[in-house]
Amino acid sequence: MSASAAMPYFIKPSVNLDRSAKTEAYEQALMAIQANLEGETDATLKMATINCLLKTYLPYYYWVGFYVKSGERRLSVGPYQGTLGCLHISYDKGVCGRAAREEKTQIVPDTHALQQGTDHIACDPNSRSEIVVPVFGKDGALIAVFDVDSTLNNSFDEVDQKYLERLMKEVF
Ligand code: SME
Repeated sequence: MSASAAMPYFIKPSVNLDRSAKTEAYEQALMAIQANLEGETDATLKMATINCLLKTYLPYYYWVGFYVKSGERRLSVGPYQGTLGCLHISYDKGVCGRAAREEKTQIVPDTHALQQGTDHIACDPNSRSEIVVPVFGKDGALIAVFDVDSTLNNSFDEVDQKYLERLMKEVF
């Protein structure tokens, strides 16, 4: 099924935040996540809860979710909130593939400036900026990547990177 530009009724376009409002929102979101995930061990439960609470506190989160390692150089969509996500992504493709390959956070100010289909995979044409953070398990091996899209350019910066890298380390 191909992605259409029409936004479903239950999804709102992004609203960017300045750094201080963003910092305040992340502090609240991480407190709520830590309170709700205290003592939890199930990865799917933790991933679904993180998606929900981050999307609740951060108004520029249009699509939010995890791509879980499903093979040697393959990712498959896990828990997410938003429009239809691509089901499988190879390590050789897109921003998610690059984050998994390099095991490094990727911040994209304008997804439409990237080579579509190779450097960027447009699961939803409304996506205009993106951040992808690698997720490591207790043994230090990559288990997934965490992906967030916004319908506006330049929604993500070092503040997002700092809080999201800290969160993924604390929870997984
Ligand atoms: N845009 C991502 C693919 C996943 S969608 O954003 C949900 C990429 O380029 O890897």
